[in-house]
Amino acid sequence: MCARQKTVLIGVTGCIAAYKSCEIVRAFQKRGVRAKVVMTEHATEFVGPTTFRALTREPVAVGLFDEPGSPIHHISLAQEADLMLIAPCTANVIAKLAQGICDDLLTTTALATKAPLVIAPAMNVNMYEHAATQRNMQILRERGCHFIEPDEGFLACGDTGKGRLADIGEIVDACLEILEVEQDMAGLNVLVTAGPTQEPIDTVRCITNHSSGKMGYAIAEAAAARGAQVHLISGPVSIPEPQGVQVHRVTTAQQMLEASQELVDGCDIVVCTAAVCDFRPAAPASRKLKKGDGTSELEHIELVQNPDILATLASCEGRRAIVGFAAETDDVVEYAKGKLASKRADLIVANDVSEGKVFGSERNEVWLVTAEGEEHVPEMDKVHLADVVLDKTLSLYDLKMA
Ligand code: CTP
Repeated sequence: MCARQKTVLIGVTGCIAAYKSCEIVRAFQKRGVRAKVVMTEHATEFVGPTTFRALTREPVAVGLFDEPGSPIHHISLAQEADLMLIAPCTANVIAKLAQGICDDLLTTTALATKAPLVIAPAMNVNMYEHAATQRNMQILRERGCHFIEPDEGFLACGDTGKGRLADIGEIVDACLEILEVEQDMAGLNVLVTAGPTQEPIDTVRCITNHSSGKMGYAIAEAAAARGAQVHLISGPVSIPEPQGVQVHRVTTAQQMLEASQELVDGCDIVVCTAAVCDFRPAAPASRKLKKGDGTSELEHIELVQNPDILATLASCEGRRAIVGFAAETDDVVEYAKGKLASKRADLIVANDVSEGKVFGSERNEVWLVTAEGEEHVPEMDKVHLADVVLDKTLSLYDLKMA
């Protein structure tokens, strides 16, 4: 996995300056930021979605019901964005945002996102200076929107005055400053378990599962990026170590338990993503067992149950938020509720692993199950999902510590 990459959702509205949004996309990409584009219908009169599709190598959505890859596209776009920039933004879209009107994909996404909203207006000087536009901008400022003032100069309509889209460098710099990862986990100690465990049958064979470790690694990296001290206890995986995290490599469930128990004291948050093997061979052979040597050891392997790491950590002394994952193939939420209670967790992130979904995949769709009920999180990549899980975890942690 590469360093955690930020996503800027660029909203393009119907204005002659729409062609400049192409340069904005490029400028973000050069700074290592992933750019996605959502356009209004009117914007497509100035630049076609194909141009943005080619520049971003991502689907470009215009209509509320275009659904490239998601049944509730405005929600997944809203959640994927670390920042939403509307540039150029017309007086009409500013007015709609001020009133909470959402009659197309762009305005609906802007209302649905919790990411910071940055608006770079571009319009005729009289429209910009009109009391209605100024009032609408004031309303949005009071709600925390950031504005990048337009420049003065010769306007496409022939007038001269304030209304030209701000300098692209200025727009991008302002967004990057806002994008600075919030250090909302500074001072917290976080323990993450990840990957599969391997339980030896003999010196060459083992029992294991298909976990790639990607979800746990993404959570560890996101927590570190948000300022936490992170210990990651990882089973055998073949993905790169996340940045800014102390990694402890283990093989078996027993080793994972021991490493976790050593570190749990002083931890504020425990996130168990590991796909721990529930059983292990009772007496692993210290040589390679032969299939044809007259023994039946390989045909009948006696298994014993492994300790439940999550439940053990949840019963340790000290107040902390405990998060588990539940891999289910049916009755996903119901089983997760059972695990929430039996393991005494504060949050269970439940996912449907039927039909080869999830394991090894870059994306996931989950339900956040707590004592208060369940919340559906639409499919998104695991890097962004990690932040969604951490947001929920932090709010539960704050409640527990209050
Ligand atoms: N877990 C754990 N130790 C185990 C088994 C599971 O810490 N020995 C944790 C996992 O890391 C996950 C949660 O418990 O956070 C649920 O794991 P899951 O495999 O979904 O459930 P199990 O408890 O193993 O139950 P079952 O296999 O019957 O669904």
